[in-house]
Amino acid sequence: MTNKFPKDFLWGASTSAYQVEGAWNEDNKGPSVQDVKEIPAGTTDFKVATDHYHRYEEDVKLFKELGLKAYRFSISWSRVMPDGVVNPEGIQFYKNLIQLLLDNQIQPVVTVFHFDLPVYIAEQGGWEKRETIQAFADYCQVLFEHFGQKVPLWQTINEQNVMALAGSIIGTSNKTMKEKFQENHHMLVAQALVTKQFHEGNYIGKIGPAPNIASVYAASDKPDDQIAALYMSALRNWLFLDVAVFGKYNHNAWHLLEKIGAAPQVTEEDRQTLAAGSCDYIAFNYYNTMTVSSYFEKDQRIDQQSGFGIPGFFQTVENKHLPMTEFGWPIDPEGFRFTLNEIYSRYRLPLLVTENGIGAKDQLIDGKVHDQYRIDYLEQHIQQMERAIEDGVEVLGYCPWSAIDLISTHEGIAKRYGFIYVNRTDDELLDLARYKKDSFYWYQNVIEKNGLDKR
Ligand code: BG6
Repeated sequence: MTNKFPKDFLWGASTSAYQVEGAWNEDNKGPSVQDVKEIPAGTTDFKVATDHYHRYEEDVKLFKELGLKAYRFSISWSRVMPDGVVNPEGIQFYKNLIQLLLDNQIQPVVTVFHFDLPVYIAEQGGWEKRETIQAFADYCQVLFEHFGQKVPLWQTINEQNVMALAGSIIGTSNKTMKEKFQENHHMLVAQALVTKQFHEGNYIGKIGPAPNIASVYAASDKPDDQIAALYMSALRNWLFLDVAVFGKYNHNAWHLLEKIGAAPQVTEEDRQTLAAGSCDYIAFNYYNTMTVSSYFEKDQRIDQQSGFGIPGFFQTVENKHLPMTEFGWPIDPEGFRFTLNEIYSRYRLPLLVTENGIGAKDQLIDGKVHDQYRIDYLEQHIQQMERAIEDGVEVLGYCPWSAIDLISTHEGIAKRYGFIYVNRTDDELLDLARYKKDSFYWYQNVIEKNGLDKR
């Protein structure tokens, strides 16, 4: 059997600024909402993270050794514009990083906003205020002007759907549905505005959104459960992609928002902005599918992958066919193939996988990390991605989460994802030294062979 990956397939890996950089208040960086949020007991803050800011040269060297063709990272808004004015030291850091990646033949793949709103913007009302749309556009313009000739792939906003639906968990928002979906609307307008801005500039790259997309299964063949799946998918997935691609709200999602009293106010100018800001490709993060039934009342664990319910519409339920990670997230590689197909059938745009991976309590023993579970997880997902490519889906690249260990959104450093282990715990910084895990060598071989070894 021959390999189905195109010759120029972007084998990559991902991180985000606040989870990996540290140096939270150095070189004139301002605080972001992530630096000041209350952190869950037993986990850690993001102030040092895994110290990438000081060690990026060593890290890029390791990325090169790993063989990465692409490195997807985010830029910290509050490092670049700590108080609305450009911080030259912030620009310099990303300039150095981008140049170093290019010198090592690694494509920089940049997300402009990944959960880390500057505190001064949050204090002025954050995304609830329309003014934030322009502040975001100004920030993006600064990035485009500095890096628009160097970066081939841009993403606007990471997991906007997670911010809207599970913001209280990841520390971005804790408001009513009505408030959240007004904020969300402003983000959608901001995204369309910067997409248009990008298209009007003379830049080399392409731009797209980066939501967390998960196909939604109905819990049974009961018609009610099928309708529940339709609505969950509309609210969680298609709302975000329909606006990014078609410039319009998804009709089911809009109906649901109206029914629960959470439909945002949309002006005529907003409508025009949304219509003028279609994306070039779709980046998305995939961890697992969701399964829903029609609504019944029950207490639910809520996080970005566990889901939630909307009275009268749907409720997430456990899928008994899927194994779980040790952190309770289902593992569904076939669901990855299904999700890739579903997105591509709806939008017919090239896809870039910007996150996929397994969080685990890795153990460093004698300088080694035997993370066979990570190899198994990634191998199964790559197999299914290859099948999706055979199905006819256009996939530009695959950037698993994460290139190097970083701090999880709400479960500390104990929940690790990287190919490279960083020696610290939630309580102690230790020496922050880097160690190559078994998965590092395995992924290195995948990249070298442009796919999996065929058995
Ligand atoms: C995504 C985010 O939700 O999933 C990342 O874009 C995050 O920032 C990743 O780290 C894994 O989630 P968690 O909660 O395990 O860190």
